[in-house]
Amino acid sequence: MSKLKRVDLDLAERILYPTVPTIVLAEYDGRVSGMMAAWWTQLSFKPFLIGVAVAPERFTYKLILKSRIYSINFIDSSLINKTPYLGDISERFYPNKIIVAGFNIGRGEVLRAPILLDSSASLELELSRIVEVGDHDLIVGEVRSAYAIEDFNGMWMLRDYKPLMYLGRTRRPDKVKRLYVKCRDFEFTEIEYAPGDLREVASMRFKILDTLEGIFKSMAGRSRRKVLHELAGVLKEYNLDPSDTAYYYEELRRKAYL
Ligand SMILES: Cc1cc2nc3c(=O)[nH]c(=O)nc-3n(C[C@H](O)[C@H](O)[C@H](O)COP(=O)(O)O)c2cc1C
Repeated sequence: MSKLKRVDLDLAERILYPTVPTIVLAEYDGRVSGMMAAWWTQLSFKPFLIGVAVAPERFTYKLILKSRIYSINFIDSSLINKTPYLGDISERFYPNKIIVAGFNIGRGEVLRAPILLDSSASLELELSRIVEVGDHDLIVGEVRSAYAIEDFNGMWMLRDYKPLMYLGRTRRPDKVKRLYVKCRDFEFTEIEYAPGDLREVASMRFKILDTLEGIFKSMAGRSRRKVLHELAGVLKEYNLDPSDTAYYYEELRRKAYL
């Protein structure tokens, strides 16, 4: 019998947590606003795009739409008590909430976007597009500059930065509470890329891609149809499904483009 038990779809959203909530900051016409945002994700390496799902009624949304620049800030869990200003009340009804909360606002060096000086890391973004997806819109932005405290040494060391983690909130009629997790210590685990038996499969994939790349490059300027035909031949040689040729073509095209 499976250990999995059926979860009410009303509660299933909470399965997605814990996430590290960010603070999105924007400014227009001298007014700065910031909001907590847990629904965010990287969308692309190059260009470096991040998407944040923002409800259209957020005041911060309006400022992003108008100024087209904003920042995404990552705060340490020690600042947890300041988060209700950013996540539970709107700048629309509580002017200057960021300053009242005790945060300090600085500027990004590239776009002059407002950034949180108290953050552990901040990203400065330029609005790329807005995608309507449901009751939230996906705000897609390109990262134009990034800042982090010393703890980030090409990767987080997680000594001075203890990220905040969000578990979701309770609902009325109960008293509404937001639940966070604070981690004091982290256990680091390194897993080798494609270890053991998987290595053979991974290297096979690289071998195929290397072979295909040689052909792809040698056929620069030739029609897509001709290149696909050539690539399909190689796939057959490797006993691979030639109907996947278009996928390999795209992978190589993207690689060449990078
Ligand atoms: C931990 C946390 C995560 C949140 N994540 C989001 C989110 O991803 N998208 C969103 O639209 N609102 C999110 N909210 C709600 C907004 O932060 C909140 O409505 C905020 O008060 C909006 O402020 P504003 O109207 O000044 O922009 C979150 C709130 C909290 C506390």
